[in-house]
Amino acid sequence: MLKNLLDSVEALVFDLDGVIADTAKFHYEAWKRLLEDLGFQIDPNESEQLKGVGRIQALETLLTNRGIDFPYSKKVELAERKNAYYVKLLSLVDEGFLLPGGMEFVSLAKERGYKTALATASKNAHIILNKTRICSYFDVIVDGTMVKRTKPDPEIFLLTAKRLKAKPEKCVVFEDAYAGIEGAKKAGMKCVGIGKPEVLSNADFVVDSLASAVKMFGNEHY
Ligand code: G6P
Ligand code: MG
Repeated sequence: MLKNLLDSVEALVFDLDGVIADTAKFHYEAWKRLLEDLGFQIDPNESEQLKGVGRIQALETLLTNRGIDFPYSKKVELAERKNAYYVKLLSLVDEGFLLPGGMEFVSLAKERGYKTALATASKNAHIILNKTRICSYFDVIVDGTMVKRTKPDPEIFLLTAKRLKAKPEKCVVFEDAYAGIEGAKKAGMKCVGIGKPEVLSNADFVVDSLASAVKMFGNEHY
């Protein structure tokens, strides 16, 4: 139950793309365009594999799925091209890109005395945060520019806990990516999956959106 998970902790840690902001679809669009440049089609089933992992790792997964490999310098060039496509799509972002219930959930958490943090592998988080104006809702923000290894490595979550001055076991992470949940668990944190239970089978609890979670959280007996 969500209540059992949240009652025993002091800090809530949120992923950005696909949890707080509706931007996972733009990562997918940008990868689709890059693959088309290379003469390939993206398979919608690949979308889950792209979530949570770093830019180069996502590219390597897409190449491996097609049985190809490139020298590292070529991979960097392709990842930069994908990023240019992605950043162009981010120009569309405004407050309307906040996913339903997300900021309501974070506000309620703050009201109830939880520390709040954002932990995202993205190096573009600052663009989304500025455009949606949500920085002040989080006590701590850790992004992909501050860590060496991305999810499923636990580094980002351990750094977040350190900055929150909270023990990892006193943090619950909200994640839409299998890789993110892996990272949170390796860090010793509990994790709520946002999405489908069959995809996020490694989560401690799964809910379809923060809008549903806010209904549970808003009720005293959630
Ligand atoms: C998030 C997204 C991933 C993305 C990663 C790096 O974790 O879920 O799909 O690959 O950030 O994002 P960036 O904006 O730095 O390329
Ligand atoms: Mg995500």
